[in-house]
Amino acid sequence: GTPASKASAMVTLTIDGRSATVPAGTSIMRAAMEIGTEIPKLCATDMLDAFGSCRLCLIEIEGRNGTPASCTTPVAEGLVVHTRSERLDRLRKGIMELYVSDHPVAALDPAGEGDIELLDKAAEVGLTEVRYGFDGARHRDTGLDESNPYFSYDPAKCIVCSRCVRACEDVQGTFALTITGRGFESVMAAGTDQSFLESDCVSCGACVQACPTGSLIEKAVIAKGKPEWSTVTTCAYCGVGCSFKAE
Ligand code: FES
Repeated sequence: GTPASKASAMVTLTIDGRSATVPAGTSIMRAAMEIGTEIPKLCATDMLDAFGSCRLCLIEIEGRNGTPASCTTPVAEGLVVHTRSERLDRLRKGIMELYVSDHPVAALDPAGEGDIELLDKAAEVGLTEVRYGFDGARHRDTGLDESNPYFSYDPAKCIVCSRCVRACEDVQGTFALTITGRGFESVMAAGTDQSFLESDCVSCGACVQACPTGSLIEKAVIAKGKPEWSTVTTCAYCGVGCSFKAE
């Protein structure tokens, strides 16, 4: 006979007035995606598992208190979920404002079509002013790490989303990167008191692809600007793929 499969347990819920039926265990964020509803997110990506740290993806669930993160909250039968509301808009803007104020950019990008994903996300949630100013000064003394031949790391631009750390672990299977320090002092680092070159980094570039702030950036991009087009292929060797870029 056919073994009972987990996939047979389907759950139906309502998201912004529309019905979604997905396998039990699916996150609300994924269920929303299935019916074409994008919930703003920063620490989760299509490549990386949910982490629940940025709080941008929060939602409201009727009959429940609080605003849980949709990337880490599983669906349940009959849930009535709202992904947009005045309160959610306000909370998302407030969170984004703190992230942007921690980054040494000169200004917001109202069009949200630039090279820095963080600013694109800020535009997406409707952030139009940063009351705390543009700063990022807390890591300024840490200095630029130019030791890797292919990319540079500027800790002043790190907002500690940990996407690079998880890309290193989940995508590449290397554990070269870590978050050091606590609270405002925390920042991503390659090993302990090491530069990228001295660390276990194998220069696969997964962290650079994952970085939403321009903190990790390819040296070729710095020198020559963004390529007009690029193709990413994957092979079994590293699981990340090589980028072939035309200028
Ligand atoms: Fe859910 Fe960051 S995307 S907490």
